[in-house]
Amino acid sequence: MALLEFLCWRAATLLLLFADVVHGISVHISNEEPTYIMPGSSLVLRAHIEHNSQEELSAVTWERAPESGAPDGRTSLAACPGGSLPLPVQCAGLRPNVRATLEPGASILHLNKYGKSDAGVYSVSVTGKGGQSSTARCIVREYEAVHHVSVSINISHSSLVCGEAWGTEPQFSWLHEQDAVTGSVGHVSPDGATLLITKVPICGHFTCVVSNKLGYSTATYTAAPCEPEGISGATVAIVCLVVLQILGGGLAFLLWRRYRYKNRGDRLRDNMDDNI
Ligand SMILES: *[C@@H]1O[C@H](CO)[C@@H](O)[C@H](O)[C@H]1NC(C)=O
Repeated sequence: MALLEFLCWRAATLLLLFADVVHGISVHISNEEPTYIMPGSSLVLRAHIEHNSQEELSAVTWERAPESGAPDGRTSLAACPGGSLPLPVQCAGLRPNVRATLEPGASILHLNKYGKSDAGVYSVSVTGKGGQSSTARCIVREYEAVHHVSVSINISHSSLVCGEAWGTEPQFSWLHEQDAVTGSVGHVSPDGATLLITKVPICGHFTCVVSNKLGYSTATYTAAPCEPEGISGATVAIVCLVVLQILGGGLAFLLWRRYRYKNRGDRLRDNMDDNI
């Protein structure tokens, strides 16, 4: 029994020790990375903080650095007080458009009117009274409109490739002569950027449309004009018939006129003969 108790006690202390090591202090940012923000809108970053109950926080700070890693571009954004203050507390915003809060288990950064200069690597650092610390990072970029759409042809593979420069989350779609591409024209690759053309011969206008939340832009590849398939058969026959009818009608009218004049001429001559 004593042995069992001893073993249980050992196991419990080990578990506690283990929990200490695991918990210490850790922080992570729950936003998707990279996070894309529309110019003029608000950026909200949420950091989850875990620490064991004995480890009191001494500070939580938010910073931003250029994504290029340039060392002189670090900016302090907010500093939250540590200690045993009742949460939530407001943190000190160190930029005019920034505020932050510290809540139980989390710190939230708000940035208003996002502008070009607000892009970068955002980091939150959490420090404990015992000197332990943990840092989490998140890349934030401006949500950009679609730019420079172009279409090029790959003759050897009968495919068209659509390119776009730096728009955020571009979505590709294809039109042939202003209509959505169907199986009789071609097949679109899973990413949408390539159109494998099945139509033989390749003809007409192929338009690539690239869009995202800010709008769309297009580019068109123009092949030789398509043979007017629809017109060839029935339409040509109808046109021929109409032309023939018009010609036939005209001919009949002319013949009728000639016949009438001839008759009138004969009658006139008869009258004159009678008078003489
Ligand atoms: C044409 O497409 C094939 C397959 O995608 C590729 O290997 C080839 O390099 C392309 N050719 C050109 C000229 O882009």
